[in-house]
Amino acid sequence: MLTKEQFFQIKQIIYDAGKLIENVDEITNQKDIKSKGGISNIVTKYDSMVQAYLVEKLGNLLPDAHFLGEEDGMSDTDTGNGYVFIIDPIDGTTNFVCGFMLSAISVGVALDGKLIAGFVYNPFRNEMFYGIEGMGAYLNDKPISIHDKSLKDSVVIFGQVPYNPELRDAAYELSKAVTYKTMDLRELGVASLCLCYAACNRCAVYASPRLSVWDYAGAYTIIKEAGGELCSFDGSPLKLRSKVSVLGGAKTALSEFLELSKQTAERFI
Ligand code: IPD
Ligand code: CA
Ligand code: CA
Repeated sequence: MLTKEQFFQIKQIIYDAGKLIENVDEITNQKDIKSKGGISNIVTKYDSMVQAYLVEKLGNLLPDAHFLGEEDGMSDTDTGNGYVFIIDPIDGTTNFVCGFMLSAISVGVALDGKLIAGFVYNPFRNEMFYGIEGMGAYLNDKPISIHDKSLKDSVVIFGQVPYNPELRDAAYELSKAVTYKTMDLRELGVASLCLCYAACNRCAVYASPRLSVWDYAGAYTIIKEAGGELCSFDGSPLKLRSKVSVLGGAKTALSEFLELSKQTAERFI
């Protein structure tokens, strides 16, 4: 098992990776935006730069580890054996391109197919969320824990499906049903941070009809260690694979959401 010291070294490497993007100005800098297919599926040179930096530095720290990363042909790595770093170098690329300053570097650490730690860092707000199995969840080194709450006690962040237009009707129908049960809906365009916002009580739950493993791997242990739950829209445990619906947050709000989503869960598979 990784030592506490090694976990803190991982955190420091992610902080340092944040320096690669925190001062990028959306107007004066060429982000070198490329399409990965479709108008919303884009990548910038910074996505690749951050991923390469993390692979190099984390690889030096843990030479036996494997890497699964969203970019540059690293997305098919088997997560079942040994240590695997699951990296979304910039979660919220569209926010990054549009200058929202609401994006995150997200790194999940899996051991033999099970997530044991996660780090989600928004360098633009200097907010570092992390969670380590058995050691708690933190925001900027201060412990965080979820106060159980109902949907009506807070907002729900409901993710859009930019890469899956075929899911839009079902997603809008479900989100409409949710509006009658909650204070209000939000969509921030950065799944990993939204899950962390549930972990620190900024929302009741985050729900996304379709995510890839790198979108939620970093936040998984943070929510768990904060006392929350994660599952898919049918209530089944989250599988460590891409293309799943993801619901995470306070237990009571989550079970209320499931009352609504279970009826239509097969539409999101
Ligand atoms: C996206 C964001 C967004 C979510 C999408 C993700 P990316 O990640 O997390 O909030 O709705 O499903 O793909 O492409 O910006 O890394
Ligand atoms: Ca992402
Ligand atoms: Ca990304």
